[in-house]
Amino acid sequence: MLVPSHIQTLKPYIAGKTIEEVVHEYNPPRISKLASNENRLGCSPKAREAVNRSMDQIMNYPDPASKLLRERLAKQFGIKTGNVITGSGSEGVMALITRTFFLDTDEALTADATFIGFVVLANSRGIKLRRVPLTSGYRFDLEAMAAAIRPETKVIYLANPNNPTGTYFSRKEFEAFHKKVPEHVLIIMDEAYFEYARNVADYPDSMKYRYDNVITLRTFSKAYGLAGLRIGYGFAHEDIISNLMKVKLPFEPSTPAQAAALAALDDTDFLDRSVAMVHSGRDRLYDFLTSKGLNFVESVSNSVMAIFGDEPEAEAFTLAMLKKGVILRRLPAFGLPNCVRITIGTPDEMDHFEMACDDVLPV
Ligand SMILES: Cc1ncc(COP(=O)(O)O)c(C=O)c1O
Repeated sequence: MLVPSHIQTLKPYIAGKTIEEVVHEYNPPRISKLASNENRLGCSPKAREAVNRSMDQIMNYPDPASKLLRERLAKQFGIKTGNVITGSGSEGVMALITRTFFLDTDEALTADATFIGFVVLANSRGIKLRRVPLTSGYRFDLEAMAAAIRPETKVIYLANPNNPTGTYFSRKEFEAFHKKVPEHVLIIMDEAYFEYARNVADYPDSMKYRYDNVITLRTFSKAYGLAGLRIGYGFAHEDIISNLMKVKLPFEPSTPAQAAALAALDDTDFLDRSVAMVHSGRDRLYDFLTSKGLNFVESVSNSVMAIFGDEPEAEAFTLAMLKKGVILRRLPAFGLPNCVRITIGTPDEMDHFEMACDDVLPV
């Protein structure tokens, strides 16, 4: 058979509706895309200028070592360039990890409701993926995950903050967990939403651990607003990084992506504004959802998960909001059919969200 069975059984990725599709289907007077955890403020103007300047070099292949960017990241975090790798988004680095470390008989371990990208990568590599339920508070259950480790376990994927729940585990919880993980098991610590959470007192910034079996992943797609350029990075022991560098597609990330990331790191003002917008928008959303009698999970990320009584209720709400031009994300693919994820938008978009909700929800 041409296509192996583990590929045949994969389900294709279903993206949220695009703005064009919503215009075509419902033609609402305005659209707020609050479905994909993007930065609704845009990106740094300095990153934009850097992309334009990089076009002078576009006929040449990119620097395969991302030298300038890796040096810059190493300086920023007080580590060596040999501890840093870049990729086409943090998912690009994740893909590289799945290509580099797994043997066919290895297993990966993660939670039930977490970032689907890792699930797809593990399944497409054809290895066994085991998943542990979240706690009743929609948090990673690190104790249960430690208990689920088996001799075949090679990689454990953790997202902190988690997507789609927006929850986090604390430094103390992670330290206790790490002690139970054998040294030959690699922990992927996905910190795609790190910038939104870093001021939370007991949030574990995994860069501070420097454990030999932890790789930290971060991205320019969220707080830096560069999702469309595809650039992310990972930090780990230099043995892990040097082996990943052997497997990496040489010319990823692209020249404009590397240039934009470098410029974005220098624009701390834009980063601060992005994070502040999310923090104040989140507080406002909590107040609003509470006033509407809707349940939600407190988040340290750039989205908030609302919980409905059942799947039909969540589906009806999402569709009614879509018709008003507010695009939200339903979560059946994450095993949370009664939940809806709301990305924090600009104040204007949150006005739109509230007005649409006022029309859609019973008083
Ligand atoms: C937890 C998590 N990790 C990784 C990613 C992928 O990010 P990137 O654009 O850097 O590949 C996402 C995107 O939504 C995410 O939610």
